[in-house]
Amino acid sequence: MSLDIVILAAGQGTRMRSALPKVLHPVAGDSMLGHVIHSARQLQPQGIHVVIGHGAELVRERLAADDLNFVLQDKQLGTGHAVAQALPALSADTVLILYGDVPLIEVETLQRLLAKVSDQQLGLLTVTLDDPTGYGRIVRDADGKVAAIVEHKDASDAQKAIREGNTGILAVPGKRLAEWLGRLSNDNAQGEYYLTDVIAMAVADGLVVATEQPHDPMEVQGANDRRQLAELERHYQFREARRLMAQGVTLRDPARFDVRGEVTVGRDVLIDINVILEGKVVIEDDVQIGPNCVIKNSTLRKGAIIKANSHLEGAVMGEGSDAGPFARLRPGSVLEARAHVGNFVELKNAHLGEGAKAGHLTYLGDAEIGARTNIGAGTITCNYDGANKFKTILGEDVFIGSNNSLVAPVDIHSGATTAAGSTVTQNVAEGQLAVARARQRNIDGWKRPEKIKKS
Ligand code: UD1
Ligand code: CA
Repeated sequence: MSLDIVILAAGQGTRMRSALPKVLHPVAGDSMLGHVIHSARQLQPQGIHVVIGHGAELVRERLAADDLNFVLQDKQLGTGHAVAQALPALSADTVLILYGDVPLIEVETLQRLLAKVSDQQLGLLTVTLDDPTGYGRIVRDADGKVAAIVEHKDASDAQKAIREGNTGILAVPGKRLAEWLGRLSNDNAQGEYYLTDVIAMAVADGLVVATEQPHDPMEVQGANDRRQLAELERHYQFREARRLMAQGVTLRDPARFDVRGEVTVGRDVLIDINVILEGKVVIEDDVQIGPNCVIKNSTLRKGAIIKANSHLEGAVMGEGSDAGPFARLRPGSVLEARAHVGNFVELKNAHLGEGAKAGHLTYLGDAEIGARTNIGAGTITCNYDGANKFKTILGEDVFIGSNNSLVAPVDIHSGATTAAGSTVTQNVAEGQLAVARARQRNIDGWKRPEKIKKS
């Protein structure tokens, strides 16, 4: 059965009080609309049609992708009118309607809904709420069959007492949709073309409206203001935390943990409080992450340890390697197995071989560092001359004394040693000691300067 998905995203979202179109407001690092598109893709439809209006250009620019068809709704005349704008592009057996400001809808819920659709049947997602104020009400006949949806503003007091509300999400046989939408009128309390009026038409045409409900009402919660946006964010994070815990992660506090991307985890992973994972993060078995770490687009191999307050981006930490506290691994940082990076160490485009160490207060940029090499405290690579960048290459078992400046391009071969305080500008051969600092002089009987007396 072929599927077209229409995502309504033309509304303004006045209550956000924002220059940004509502659907671009982020939940967990991605726009609300981005989340809906992500879920839509998992249903493998033949088309995804996004109806845009307010901020159309910006929405199109931010989300442009080959598989998306953007449809402009110039004036927001109602949800039925919005879907009608996409009609010329629809050709599938089934059309599913989603909303750009309802980001937490689960693919599994949509699959249950789609399973209800046939030539003779619609699928309607409803939600039973203690307070359904504002929702269209699901009106059922004496047999309990859905007869119509009545909008809150058009409802009688008896209808307002109905607690089953319309989520807006529905799946309909594509062949009938054009005809139903063509028959909509805007003769109602809001003067809008209501998509919901399609339900009564379908019933009149002899179709059955089958309903499903989400497992969790938050799945169908929209965000109209920043408070609701924050509620969606917390709910998303709670769901992500539960998913990771189910896979074998200990979270010291699931309420102080944030994922803004895609995380895969192994077993017996330990994550302390206030950790933020962004982008694509791969965490293998037995990894430990200390408090207050930000980890973006990185891979942490088995048993890697990240201590408190470290910041990783585009980094790979090998098996049993460790970094921090206060380490900064910038893009292109690779630590091989059991390499060690200590406090106040910054790496950028630097490769640390197996068991190599940079324990304290160091900057390594554009550097290739061999296995078991030890970098003394306070060492920096001078990789940039103000115009170009150059490489520093250290062999295996090199010993760099404390407070060295390694002026690139420079090669220091295996087994070489550099003296503390050296400014190394020339290559050092295997096994050599480089001393590149002024020789110490001790001057006898030194008289310290005295304070000049003011007259
Ligand atoms: C709609 C439903 C209501 C349901 C509720 C759930 C209708 C008539 N009513 O009401 O039964 O309980 O959702 O939240 O469908 N939009 C457009 N173009 C338009 C109008 C709306 O793109 O011309 C988009 C909006 O951006 C929004 C969504 O459609 O994302 C819903 O529109 P809105 O006017 O907020 O519908 P509700 O009044 O909430
Ligand atoms: Ca409305």
